[in-house]
Amino acid sequence: MRKGERELLERIEKDIREVFQGEGSGHDHLHILRVRDNALHILSEEGEAEPFLVEGAALLHDLGDSKFFDGDEEKGNTKVKEWLSSYPLEPDTQKELFEIIQNVSFRSEKDPDASLSLETRIVQDADRLDALGAIGIARAFAFGGRHERPIHLPVEEKDGTKGPTIDHFHEKLLLLKDRMKTRSGYRLAEGRHRFMEGFLDRFHQELNREC
Ligand code: ADP
Ligand code: NI
Repeated sequence: MRKGERELLERIEKDIREVFQGEGSGHDHLHILRVRDNALHILSEEGEAEPFLVEGAALLHDLGDSKFFDGDEEKGNTKVKEWLSSYPLEPDTQKELFEIIQNVSFRSEKDPDASLSLETRIVQDADRLDALGAIGIARAFAFGGRHERPIHLPVEEKDGTKGPTIDHFHEKLLLLKDRMKTRSGYRLAEGRHRFMEGFLDRFHQELNREC
């Protein structure tokens, strides 16, 4: 890392802790720090990526998420740009960080086969890992509760408005494993995926009073 970059990352971490502290839908500061740690872990196995970009983008990745701006992507992008320009960063570095952050979200991924920089693939996988496994299950129900979604619903009670959280596993979480973009991300996702499948099996067994 170049001179001053470690101090800058510490400053960003401090700011991010303040912004996300207390967020109640599974996107609190601890989500951000887990994503940063996942990203550093993947980076240590993938090697070639630029560490400052990986760590910086991981810390900043949820700042402009449109779900915090009533779905308005433009507002989210403006917010990220404002934050980036508040730090002593070269314009090129700001642009690189912005591009990574913009490409992290699963929701806004238009083409899963598009070629992305290694830094982007690492941060994307790091964020997705936090939606999987035991932590992913906990976050899904935290998100569901915060948005007044039922845990599960029998078919005859579904009205298409607020889908139950258990459906989110089939709509998204179980699809993530095959969309991981680094080898080490995929390997970690496999274990977390299996754990979620076991959880869902057990959930349905209990519903059917089989155990
Ligand atoms: P991304 O930022 O990658 O597009 P989201 O912000 O939509 O993804 O999702 C991040 C977290 O919120 C995940 O852990 C996910 O499980 C949870 N989440 C999102 N939508 C739902 C939902 N409809 N029900 C339950 N959890 C959800
Ligand atoms: Ni995130």
